Amino acid sequence: MHLVAARDERVDDVRADEAGASGYDRPHAPYRTASVFLSLEGVDGSGKTTQAGLLAEALRADGREVVATREPGGTRLGEEVRELLLEGVEMSAWAETTLFAAARAELAERVIAPALAAGNDVVCDRYIDSSLAYQGIARGLGLERVLELNLTVTNGLLPDRTFLVLVDPGVAFERTKRSDRIELEGEAFHRAVDEAYRSLAEMFPERITTVDGNRPAEEVAEEIRGRLRELS
Ligand code: TYD
Repeated sequence: MHLVAARDERVDDVRADEAGASGYDRPHAPYRTASVFLSLEGVDGSGKTTQAGLLAEALRADGREVVATREPGGTRLGEEVRELLLEGVEMSAWAETTLFAAARAELAERVIAPALAAGNDVVCDRYIDSSLAYQGIARGLGLERVLELNLTVTNGLLPDRTFLVLVDPGVAFERTKRSDRIELEGEAFHRAVDEAYRSLAEMFPERITTVDGNRPAEEVAEEIRGRLRELS
């Protein structure tokens, strides 16, 4: 679809870092030339944190400057909000959603946007899709409303590409430490999050790439690197 769209446009109408730019219209691929914002998503126990680390390492091995960060957290305020969210008292679903959004606003403005502006890549362990899956869909607050809130607080800063690590939900649930407030929700919630992520991947196929996480970590990492290269 991108190729067709790009061919219909004049070459100079398409910036090299735009999603609509085809390989024919630019001298180098965006992955090679421009900073790229990548996020890793998945249910608890999916192995996405391991994959975020391996992806950042691979980009660095390619000579790229990478800022690796995580959510909730990644800033001083964000780490404090993380404590409240994961270790704190019970809270209403909207209180939870807005706290995640507050941590994300801080991370987007103080870490992600400046890093991209400085030409670094950013690899984020969880981002907006976590709120869409956990709060928007699984907690039933509404995808549209949670998306709107998050686009507002981040100034519309979305990843160039999101890798969603899919695993058998039963296996992932067994793997979770069940140590924080959200992990303690139980298996029905965990399965609802898994389904929510799968529907997000169908809704946003241009941005979200799914990978089969039911394999050794190095194999999954290899697939993610390959998918990223394909985008170049
Ligand atoms: P995570 O960092 O994956 O936990 P850990 O590092 O302990 O494995 O995420 C913490 C929890 O917060 C996880 O259960 C998912 C949840 N979460 C949301 O519900 N919404 C969000 O927007 C984010 C970022 C996380």
